[in-house]
Order: sequence, then structure tokens, then C-alpha cells
Amino acid sequence: MFCRARTIRYRHALVLQSSRNLSTQSQMNAVHFYQNRQLELYAARNANRLTLRQLVFFGRSMNEERLIKSANYVRTELPVRIAHRLRDLQALPYVVVTNESVAKVYELYWSAFEKSTLALKAPHRLRRYPAITTLAENEAFCSFLRGILNEHLPVIPLLSLGLSLSSPHLAPDYLDSFMRRMLVSRISRRVLAEHHIALTESLVEQRHRIKSRNKAHGDVGIIYTDLRPKESIERCVRLLHAGPNRLVPGLSDQAELTPPEVIIDGDADTRFAYIREHLDYIIFELLKNAMKATATRHRSQGGTGAVPVVRATIVAGPNEVNLRISDQGGGILSPYITSTSDLFSFSHVRNAARMEVDRLGALRLVSASQHGLSATVGEQVGERDTEKKIAPMGMGIGLPMSRIFARYFGGSLELVSLDGWGTDVYLRLPKLGTNLEGLEV
Ligand code: COI
Repeated sequence: MFCRARTIRYRHALVLQSSRNLSTQSQMNAVHFYQNRQLELYAARNANRLTLRQLVFFGRSMNEERLIKSANYVRTELPVRIAHRLRDLQALPYVVVTNESVAKVYELYWSAFEKSTLALKAPHRLRRYPAITTLAENEAFCSFLRGILNEHLPVIPLLSLGLSLSSPHLAPDYLDSFMRRMLVSRISRRVLAEHHIALTESLVEQRHRIKSRNKAHGDVGIIYTDLRPKESIERCVRLLHAGPNRLVPGLSDQAELTPPEVIIDGDADTRFAYIREHLDYIIFELLKNAMKATATRHRSQGGTGAVPVVRATIVAGPNEVNLRISDQGGGILSPYITSTSDLFSFSHVRNAARMEVDRLGALRLVSASQHGLSATVGEQVGERDTEKKIAPMGMGIGLPMSRIFARYFGGSLELVSLDGWGTDVYLRLPKLGTNLEGLEV
């Protein structure tokens, strides 16, 4: 026990030492001993998990007192959730946690949790953030949150790159459950922060009697209470047909692909309360894969006749919304993949595509470029909003990320491949909002 704690403390020191220059060894040890004690205290607490319904009910009738309560919940909850994942990072083998990209994620999380020697401009970090008692203090807290949300934009590409490169050193099950915990927890922290920011913005708009877009839709924070999957599908199809994220050919393949049409059938009028950003992410990824596979196969078969359509079927159950996306893209047979579950793995042992040079290059590019991004949350609406949130092409994490989003409030995502013909993906999302966030937050 003592040895493990010492090893972990030592690891914390080494990772941070690689990105900061603390002067003497003893200075460093004292600082890191104290820091790790604080981390242990937070990591020992349980997260206070919420349901979608609680988020809606609490946010529905907002006033100053409730908004301040929400701010203090976020203020005290985020450091606990981030501490759990810092502990996870510390427990990685030395060779993994010192990988450049993984170490950057550690540094980002550490400096969000604790006042960082680097973050001189930010007087408070999450653990030390003082209680919020007024609307003005809440405004300052929201700006602080916006800053962290922005700083953490490169986390997913960094993690994905770091873990791909380290996957020879980790057992596939360990790697996959580590990644799942990191991603679920990140989604949960961003949901809490973005929801609180959106609640603040709508209270301000309400006070200034600005007719807000949220009010027009009856939305609560980031939750769209009347979300129509059909509209999400149409929005994503438009982006894939025409936007900057349209079906682009692979790096080694310069010819344009003809994107297939998407037919929507079933209960097209279904509406439910959900986080639109999550639904759009999943639908975009599923349609992108379906359309790209269909177009590529059509071309490889000579490209004569019409491109087969992709079918999106919406089915409203009493407790859930189901969506099936069917394509005729030939199924998932590839030299890399032997079973559909491998498609969801982050380990190169299960999915050798993780080590493809093009993919690693795309991840390097994205993690470097997102450092400079300064988009603020909720700044844009409609298609541009969807576009901003989706994973750039070629990172190879869209499918596992979509499953993580689907499961976050208790849904599921399954894939069935009819090899030689096509793929069906089944998405199920709970409608009542009564499931707690995933355990891994
Ligand atoms: C993340 O995006 O990884 C976060 O942890 C953000 C949160 C602290 C607001």
C-alpha cells in the first residue's frame, strides 16, 4: 500500500516535472506530496450522479437562488470527477503516462484541478474555487468554466493518439476500460459545465426580456425538450452532402465520391427530451460511415447505376426512441477487423487500424490545431453548431465515441454486419430521462 502510494506520487512528480521546471528535487517532492494528499481526499469521494430528468426539472424554473445552487453544485462536483480520472492516469504504467500526449492530458487535468504553476493568470482552479454567492460571482465562474472547456478541447485527440501509441504496453481490456472511464467522465464534466453556462445565459436573457431561442423551443440549458431525431438526421445529411465535412475521399484516394441519398421512414414525428449535441454527434458518425461505405463500394463496383440509398428508420417505443441506419456498403469486412466488437476497441491488438499512419497523422494534426481554438459554448446555433462538435474525419474514434454517448444516459448502440452486403446499426436512447449518468463519471 505504502509502496503503491509512493510510486504514484513519484509518477505525478515525474509527469509534471517533464512539463514544468521546478528548481530543486526537495522542493518538488514537498509540493507533490502535498498535492497528492489533496487529490486523494477528492478521489475518495463519490460523484453525485444525476439523471436527465433532474437536469430538466431543476433548470425549468430558474431564478437567482437556484442558479447559485447550480453553480455551487458544479463547483464542488467537477473537482471530484476530475480527481477520479487523475488517479486513473497516475495508475497507468510509467511508459504510458510519460507518453507526450498522455502527459499533456495529465497536465491539463492537473492544472484544472489544482492551481497550476503555469496558470498564473487564473487565480483559482477547481479545487480552490471559492463559494459562489451572487450573480456577478456566477458570471465570473461561467467565464472560468468557458476557459477550461476551451483549454480541454484537444483532450480526445491527445488521449486517442497517446493510447494508440502506447497500446503495445497495455492489455486490451485494461486499455478499453481506461479509455471508457476517461471519455464518460469527460462527457459528464462538460455536460455539467455547459448546462450551467446555458442556464445562466437563459436567465440573463430572461431578465433582459430577450426573446431567446431556448425559450422558443422550451429548452432547458443544453437539453432540448422537444428534440426531433428526423431533424437531426436531415441536418447531418445536409452537412455530409454539402458542408465542409462532406464525404471527402481518403488521403490516398483523390477521386470524389457520390454520396447516397438518405431515406427517413418510421415514426418520423417522434420527439423527446435529450441533449441535441449528443444525438447529433451519434447520427453524424453513423450516417458518415454508412454513406462513405456505400459510395466507396458503389465506385469499386464500377459506379454504374444509382448509388444505393441509406435508410434511417425511427421507431418510438413507450420508453425509448430507436433508430436503425441500414446501408449497402458491403459490411465491415476488412483486413484489420475480425469481429464487430473490435470496431469499438481503442487497442491496436483488437483493431490494427489504430496504428495506421494516416490516422495517427490526423490525430497529431487535430490535437495540435485545437490548442488554438477559442470557440465559446452555445455561441452558434443550427448546422454550424453541429459541425463544430463532430469529430474531424479520419480520427477513427467516431464509432466508439458514439457508443459512449449512447450509453451515457442508459442507451445502447449495436452494429450488425452482413458481410458482402451492408451494415445495420441500432441506436436506442431512453425517452423518460430517469437513468443516472454512467457509473464511470
Ligand atoms: C474536459 O473537457 O475534459 C473537462 O474536464 C472540462 C471540465 C473541467 C469543465
